[in-house]
Amino acid sequence: MRLFRSLFLLAFVALTACTNVEQSKDVYKSDATGKELALQVCSACHGKTGQAVSPQFPKLAGQHQEYLLIQLGEFKEHRRSTPNAVAFMWSFNQLTPEQMKELAQYYSGQAPMIGEPTKSPLLARGKSIYEQGIPGSNVTACSSCHGSNGIGGKEIPRLAGQHANYIAEQIHLFKSSTKRPNGVAMMALTHSMSEEDIQAVSIYLSSLQVGLQ
Ligand code: HEC
Ligand code: HEC
Repeated sequence: MRLFRSLFLLAFVALTACTNVEQSKDVYKSDATGKELALQVCSACHGKTGQAVSPQFPKLAGQHQEYLLIQLGEFKEHRRSTPNAVAFMWSFNQLTPEQMKELAQYYSGQAPMIGEPTKSPLLARGKSIYEQGIPGSNVTACSSCHGSNGIGGKEIPRLAGQHANYIAEQIHLFKSSTKRPNGVAMMALTHSMSEEDIQAVSIYLSSLQVGLQ
């Protein structure tokens, strides 16, 4: 499954992003602004306004500026070493501090990501984990940091409306790796989550339709 997904991603990039990667070299040379980079380079995967359509790529629209800037730094310094970060984000290590700041401003200023309602039978369990954690375990309520409606704040990411697939993948990585070293807070509390817990909370968050607050 993982291999299949990697092949899919490679094929996707080969088909849609090659010309953009070529362009990106010129763009770097020409002192592009963050907005120009977003529209000409990052849009190939994250969409023009950060509303990534493919569930393989995280939505960035309405994500917090502080969080985005931290993550761009983590990619640039090759600290966030998840397989997809290595494959897709590590090459952007020539971004200047100014470009990174402008990119973070650009995405945080877009209309926020909006989820899609679902009738999944796991929804109620996901909501309960999100709001109350799992009693008797070290899974604390996600809402205590990510906010009662999943909008996060500053260095805590917005989760409401993000792709379920991406959320679940990141929880797996926090749970069983140190490939996101800035996410220490997430590691211990995801440790005892079962596969069903992870799917449930991911589906719940991806179904939220919360605008700007
Ligand atoms: C070829 C596809 C591709 C391109 C082009 C691309 N990204 Fe990404 N990006 C990804 C993938 C895949 C991830 C998820 C990485 C992971 O799983 O750790 C990601 C993750 C991110 C994240 C972290 C999101 C989060 O919620 O933690 C940010 C921020 C980001 N990208 C910004 C950018 C910016 C800015 C550009 C342009 C300079 C860009 N990306 C270009 C594929 C791409
Ligand atoms: C103690 C505070 C805290 C709690 C409680 C918490 N988180 Fe987090 N979470 C964070 C921080 C901080 C980050 C950013 C980590 C980083 O910078 O890599 C994060 C990141 C994430 C991400 C990655 C988002 C992205 O865009 O890549 C997901 C998914 C996530 N948390 C889900 C959850 C879930 C589900 C729960 C409840 C089971 C939860 N979190 C509980 C602090 C918390």
